[in-house]
Amino acid sequence: MNMKLPQKTTEDRPTGIFDSGVGGLCVFSEIRKRLPHESIHYFADSRNCPYGSKTKEDALSLSRKNIEFLLKQDCKLIVIACNTVTAVAIDHFRSEYKIPFVGIEPALKPAALQSKTKKIGILATENTLNSRRFKQTFEKYATGLEVFVQPGYGLVELVERRTQNSDQARRLLTRYLLPMMDKGVDTLVLGCTHYPFLMETIKKVTKNRVTIIDPADAVANQAKRLLIQFNLASKTNHHPLFHFFTTGDKKIAQTFIDHTIKTPYSLKQVDI
Ligand code: DGL
Repeated sequence: MNMKLPQKTTEDRPTGIFDSGVGGLCVFSEIRKRLPHESIHYFADSRNCPYGSKTKEDALSLSRKNIEFLLKQDCKLIVIACNTVTAVAIDHFRSEYKIPFVGIEPALKPAALQSKTKKIGILATENTLNSRRFKQTFEKYATGLEVFVQPGYGLVELVERRTQNSDQARRLLTRYLLPMMDKGVDTLVLGCTHYPFLMETIKKVTKNRVTIIDPADAVANQAKRLLIQFNLASKTNHHPLFHFFTTGDKKIAQTFIDHTIKTPYSLKQVDI
């Protein structure tokens, strides 16, 4: 018998998300909220994390592998849920590949609107802060503001080891955040997707005295806009599927994913 299998329509293809590790799961959550019918494939390159202190070339070639992996999974749009990769490589990828990309960047503009003291702190990776892209954002939005930038050395590693609430996390955050608060900073931009996992410790260290800006919801809105604009959004009767892939420790990934999603999912350890 010659049976025809149903064809996957464009709208049923998954949206891809990747990060150097588990940090981008914060973006995954926001995308789920705004796009409840979308299937998502999430790729975490935890074995090679952190990207923030690697050479630009290494961050670029690792990211290219992640993209190729997601393209093999037939993803229709890719969300780069990593400030570092967005800062150093999104322009390359936009000219290299045909599919749409959404990136994430330190949200200086919304912070400027929120701040009363007009003194803003930005916590991000070295590569993000040193990038041309960040310098351009800075030039565009920092007029009239005093901006204190601080590389978050060691913070991504703490999250990847699931020690985000440890004494060491508290010590590092105290060292990074108190000096800027002493200068009058009232708004803090989280310029790395791993940092929302440190939220509890950040709030303790800052005694809830700063407004924290995390652009994950803006990224999800942009993903939604693009899916609609390119006619790629899944129909409201589409039953979404969630597949996670990690190059790192499966148990650690599972703990973070369980914290993020309550519906069934699959998780695979992969070597790419
Ligand atoms: N989540 C990545 C970011 O947003 C972490 C970067 C890293 O791997 O150092 O920048």
